[in-house]
Parts: sequence; structure tokens; C-alpha cells
Amino acid sequence: MRRLWGLTAALIALLALNAAYASNQAILEGERFHPVQATQGMVATSHTLASEVALQVLKDGGNAIDAAVVAGFALAVTQPRSGNIGGGGFLLYAPGDGSAPEAIDYRETAPASASETMFQDDDGNVVSQRSRFSHQAAGVPGTVAGLALALERHGTLSLREALAPAIRLAQEGFVVPHRFTEGLEQARERLQRWPATKATFYKEDGSAPQPGEVFKQPDLADTLKRIAEHGPEGFYQGKTAQLIVDEMQRHDGLITLDDLKAYRPAVRHPVHGQYRGYDIYSMSPPSSGGTHIIQILNILEGFPITEMGHNSAATIHHMAEAMKLAYADRAEYLGDTDFVEVPLRGLTSRAYAAELRKGINPDKARPASDIKPGQPAAHESPETTHFSVVDRWGNAVSNTYTINFSYGSGITVAGAGFLLNNEMDDFSAKPGEPNAYGLIGGEANKIQPGKRMLSSMSPTVVRKDNRNFLVTGSPGGSRIITTTLQVLMNVIDHNMNIQTAVAAPRIHHQWLPDEIRMEQGISPDTVRLLEAKGHEVTTSTAMGAIQSIMIGEDGTLYGGADPRRSTSSAMGF
Ligand code: DON
Repeated sequence: MRRLWGLTAALIALLALNAAYASNQAILEGERFHPVQATQGMVATSHTLASEVALQVLKDGGNAIDAAVVAGFALAVTQPRSGNIGGGGFLLYAPGDGSAPEAIDYRETAPASASETMFQDDDGNVVSQRSRFSHQAAGVPGTVAGLALALERHGTLSLREALAPAIRLAQEGFVVPHRFTEGLEQARERLQRWPATKATFYKEDGSAPQPGEVFKQPDLADTLKRIAEHGPEGFYQGKTAQLIVDEMQRHDGLITLDDLKAYRPAVRHPVHGQYRGYDIYSMSPPSSGGTHIIQILNILEGFPITEMGHNSAATIHHMAEAMKLAYADRAEYLGDTDFVEVPLRGLTSRAYAAELRKGINPDKARPASDIKPGQPAAHESPETTHFSVVDRWGNAVSNTYTINFSYGSGITVAGAGFLLNNEMDDFSAKPGEPNAYGLIGGEANKIQPGKRMLSSMSPTVVRKDNRNFLVTGSPGGSRIITTTLQVLMNVIDHNMNIQTAVAAPRIHHQWLPDEIRMEQGISPDTVRLLEAKGHEVTTSTAMGAIQSIMIGEDGTLYGGADPRRSTSSAMGF
């Protein structure tokens, strides 16, 4: 009898566990990692101070857009290596009422005098020094206009109110965390070439501000105040614009007053796909991110990933094969849809994925040299730091923005206190030549005046039954797509809670180079099995820093900040 009772109890426990799995992936007990939990609002960013000021906005009754814009400006102060007003990005907004998600594209544009071969020397060789570390590397910044537009369309705060915490942090300073010091020490040589950068971010003796010290940015505070006072015109016109142009003229840069005045963010439709009953919304061109996340998921949907198991050799093999195919198509087809036709519907169609799937051999890796871009259906008519926010109404914001490299070009606009991006390197400087992330580009991503350079940034929102379920995205250059993909799969295929999904070791394949990059934590046995299938496997340092929020069926919010950044922070109330 006792035995029967024991069995029944075990059965009930198992059923309860299964019910929890079936209802959502919020399962907590018994796991090694636990998300932050809240009921009213949640913010996940890569910097504690940004999370704090954004959370306060939610507590004060602001919505997710208000909090996102506050976080965006705060990160421009507290995390100058990627938070910015001198760069650009993408914001995905998914309303809590289930209405259509919308994307705000504030990617940088090529200046009017940019040209296709501007980063080639007389012999046609690419001069990456120029596309990465010169004034010509900077695209026309989009962040100020993009965040202002998001606020205007969906926020409740004024721009002045949204800038107040950032202005305070710049003016009064903030206590420097270890990561801040370490970043500046590592980039010292590159950054100190530029006197304004040295004066802005280093002490007089040339050393970086130390952990625990207070770091102030008076020039940046003044720049932010001009935006608070005049709106985006306080950046794209007037004193700040003039400071940017003066900086350009001193060093052969291309950005003019007209380029700045002409900058416009764009409202776009996110790309949409479905994966095992979940709706995936992610960034459309000029980012390649959403398109290829959906393409890879479409291919993988035809394989029993759950049964194959998380990070097993079989799963990694199928993922790597699908990734190669997607990155080969990226190189051929993706670019700014305002300038080139991108076969978006074809690339994200299930029929095309089914075709591509046929070429995947479960036992053998296909050499990258055997893979050529595929034949998606014909062209149709045109159409790095991440943070996620959910408010009490269930509205979700997923935002990724960047100045490209850590500290961008390394060049600070003298007198204005902010770093300029080096996003021009994301264009294809020459067909077939890799950019800094090893990504190959072609005609579709060639440099043209006013065009946006191709991105991999992938702010993503997943809906289940028309309800926001998962808000996620990451930095990481070419690895953004695969990082985001794996968090989606960890939740949907492997039933992980969001913190486990974020922390789990990741892999990456981008077609060229022909290798699977792997974080620590995947077993050597698995590596051997993959090598036996013909894969080259290399180990990699941490990839991505994905800041995610999951929304349970009962509305509970689960925050998963990426432990790969020591300052990552999910906070709720
Ligand atoms: O837009 C892109 O895809 C790149 N400029 C992003 C750079 C990036 O994520 C760097 N961070 N690790």
C-alpha cells in the first residue's frame, strides 16, 4: 500500500511538472539558475545603473517605451563602450494588447559623399584601418532621433524628462565598476591616439578611472542638455552638429551639417515567422538578424531537436548546418531595402527552408566551399548593447544599439563628449572581402550615399497565442543572430527557464570561416563526435550578452540577465 502511494505521489509530481512545462518555461525549483521575478515591471540591461533608472520610470507609472528611452540615454553615459548617442540601432515595440509589433530603425546612414570604393586603395585593396579607426568610419548617428521618435509615438514622458537621469549621471558622475576600468585599460592604446578621447575618459596621468571612483562627463552632460532643450534638433543642428562637423573637417571626415540635418529614423514592419507554435517577431532589414533567425528556425523545425537534446552533437550539428546556409544567403542577398531588393519573403518562407533542409546530412558536415547562396523565391516589392523592458500593461520593448566596436571608432567629438561609431565597416568595403566580424558581403551591401549598412542586430519578441511571451536580444557582431536563436531554442525546444536559457553555453557557425565556435562548457566527447562528422571546432571566449524577459501565463515576469557581463542586471518590482 505504502509502495502504491509512493508511486501515485511520484506520478502526481511528474504530471504537475509536465503541466508546468506545458504551460510555460518558468519552472524554477530544481534548476541551477534562477531568473529575477516580478509582477509589475521588469528591465534587463547590461548596466545596473541603467536598469535602476529605467525601473524607477516603470514604478512611477511610465510605460515600457519611457523606460527603454531612459535606459538608452543612461547607457550612453554609464557604458560608453556601447551605450551611445554617437551610433545607432533598432527598437522593437510589441504592445501588450496583442496589436501588431513595430520596429524603429535608427541605424546610421552613409554620408552623402560616401562612395562604393572609399575604403579601397588605388590597387583595390581594402584599407580596414580607414573603415574602422578613422573619421570616415563614422556613419551619421541615429540614436537621438530614434529614441526621440519612439518616445513621441508611444511614450508618455517628454524628451526632457527622459534625459534627466542621464544628465544627472553625466554631471554628478557615477561610481565606476570594475568592467568600466578594465575596458578602458584594454583599449588604452587605440583610444589615447585621440586627444579628446584621452581627456574625456582617462585621468590626467593617462590611467583609467579606477573601480569605486566617481567618473563625471561634463561635456556629455551639456550635449544631453541641448537635446533636452531643443529636441533632436539640439543634436542634429546647432552647437552639437557644428562640433561634429568641426571634428570631421579636422580629420578628413565626411559627415556634414546637411547629412546631420537630413537624418531620419524609419518605422518598419518587423519580420515574422513561426516556430513550433510560437510567433517570432524580429528585426527586418537593414538588419539581417530577424530574417536569418527565422530562416534557421524554419530549417530546424523539421528536426526533432528536443529529442536530440540540448548541446548534444546531433543538435549542434543540425544547428551548424542550418547556420551555414543562412549566413551564405546573408552574404548574397541582404542589404538596406531602401536601396536594394531583398527576397525577404523567400528567405523566411517554410518552402525554402524545406528545400534547404534536404541538403543537410545528419551524419556529415557540408564543407562551406560546397555551400553557395540558395535560390529563395523572387524579389518582392521593397519594404551593441541590448536591453529588454516589460511594463505593467504587458507592453514590451526590445532594443539593441551600438557604435559597432567597443568604443566605436575610438574618436570622441571634441567638446561634445561622446564617441563616434565605426559602423561604416559593416558595409561591404569590396565584394567578397570580410568585415571585422568575418562577414562577407556583396553588391546588396555596397556603400551608397544615404544607405544604411547591413546589421546583425536582432531585437526579438516572441508571442504565444497573441500574448507577449519572450523579449530578448544581444550584442556580439555576427554572433548576435546565433546567440538570440539559441535562447529561443533553449526556451522553446529545451524547456529551460529564462536564466538557464541565457546562461547555457553557446555555439556559432557563420559559413565562413568554416568552423563551429564553441564556448566553454560543452563536453569534449561532444566535440569529438562533431569532429567525426567533419566539423572543425574551435573554442571561443564568451559570445553575446543577451538580456531577456519572459512573461508567464499568469503575467509573472522572469528576468534573465547574461552572466557573461559582470554589470548585467535584471530588476523588477
Ligand atoms: O550592426 C551590427 O551587426 C554590428 N555593428 C554590431 C556590433 C556588435 O554587436 C559588437 N558587439 N559585440
